[in-house]
Amino acid sequence: MKILIIGAGGHGQVVADILLQMSENEPELNPLGYIDDDPAIQNLQYLGLKVLGKITDLKHIEHNAVIIGIGENEIRRQTAQQLGQSGERFFTAVHPAAVIAHGVKIGPGSVICAGAVINTGSNIGTHVILNTCCSVDHHNEIESFVHVAPGAHLGGNVLVGEGALVGLGSAVLPQKSIGRWAIIGAGAVVIDNVKASARAVGNPARILEK
Ligand SMILES: CC(C)(COP(=O)(O)OP(=O)(O)OC[C@H]1O[C@@H](n2cnc3c(N)ncnc32)[C@H](O)[C@@H]1OP(=O)(O)O)[C@@H](O)C(=O)NCCC(=O)NCCS
Repeated sequence: MKILIIGAGGHGQVVADILLQMSENEPELNPLGYIDDDPAIQNLQYLGLKVLGKITDLKHIEHNAVIIGIGENEIRRQTAQQLGQSGERFFTAVHPAAVIAHGVKIGPGSVICAGAVINTGSNIGTHVILNTCCSVDHHNEIESFVHVAPGAHLGGNVLVGEGALVGLGSAVLPQKSIGRWAIIGAGAVVIDNVKASARAVGNPARILEK
């Protein structure tokens, strides 16, 4: 299974590390290198994997699947749309030190980092990032292109709408919903539902005016 990582920045390198860790247990997994449109980093190496070309070069590099290593949710969505239209298959990366309960579904292209815990009955959409040591408790619905940042904690039966960012170290109380493309600030404690595209900060979380 030859896999290319789209994006060689900070998050791309986190994804590369997860693939390398996975390949220690699954020798058929072969992370080939990165694809990145930045001309300044072509042929450079990160974690021993080379930047092999730009997105337009994908068709010339033999591979079985790609995974998008771009942290910014909207850019990840646009990239997924573009690559999906050109027929790419998306690989799902789960760090060996993540804990995934029985009955959890994870969509293609998602990245589950070290120390993340997903409890039973939760559905994780496509191209989601569940970052280092976050927890997603039972029966959550995490829609596509969401990023749950390091150390964030979601109670049971939480809904996180498409493209939302749940910031570093925040907490969302059980049964609350976070609207599409909303942003939960670092350290926030969300005690009420948050509307689409809103930004909520603080404890208890308040909505920031635009
Ligand atoms: C919420 C956030 C997006 C706001 O960013 P911003 O639009 O640039 O807002 P500003 O920095 O101008 O701050 C606006 C107000 O919100 C307050 N504020 C901003 N972030 C806050 C936070 N995390 N907690 C509490 N208050 C916060 C500011 O103090 C300011 O208050 P004031 O109007 O009373 O002076 C940002 O601060 C944040 O927390 N982002 C999350 C980052 C993250 O976790 N990324 C994941 C990395 S892996």
